[in-house]
Amino acid sequence: MLVDLVLAILHHLLVFSLFAILAVELVWLKRDLSLPGLQRVGRLDMIYGAVAGAVLVVGILRVFFGLKGYEYYVSSHSFWAKMAAFAVVGLLSIPPTLQMIRWRKRAEAEPGWLPSAPEVAGARRYLHIEAAVFLLILVFAAAMARGY
Ligand code: HEM
Repeated sequence: MLVDLVLAILHHLLVFSLFAILAVELVWLKRDLSLPGLQRVGRLDMIYGAVAGAVLVVGILRVFFGLKGYEYYVSSHSFWAKMAAFAVVGLLSIPPTLQMIRWRKRAEAEPGWLPSAPEVAGARRYLHIEAAVFLLILVFAAAMARGY
């Protein structure tokens, strides 16, 4: 009972943090980026990855140590829809992450170089789609908790 409560609290805190980080990344990843700005958003992106990993770990713990038991979830369509949406968010985060690393390395090696506006807009598009799929995860989560 207590384990379920602690895991549920952790899950919610992590999930809200993840969405907040995504929102801040969108604010920081703008056209007039500087080298310190690139370094700062790169560090935040690493934290985003770590928090996403923690969401996965705590989520798996909830499946096995939650009140309903893992059989409830493995036979739930909305659980698998939620897992698929989570995987899509993970995959969508790869191209902007790689791009930010490339940009930072290049800006450090070539003083004065910065990514062009269309390049930044391209990375932002991935983050926007991630945020949209994230909202879908919440829909599946509510359905899954109620046996749909
Ligand atoms: C960004 C990713 C995620 C979001 C936004 C999210 C969101 C949520 C929310 C809002 C709930 C509460 C549902 C409710 O009680 O109405 C929930 C419950 C839960 N989530 Fe997640 N979740 C995420 C990832 C995961 C992952 C990766 C797993 C498992 C591997 C997972 C497993 C669970 C479980 C087991 C519950 C308990 C449902 C119940 O009460 O029966 N979640 N999630």
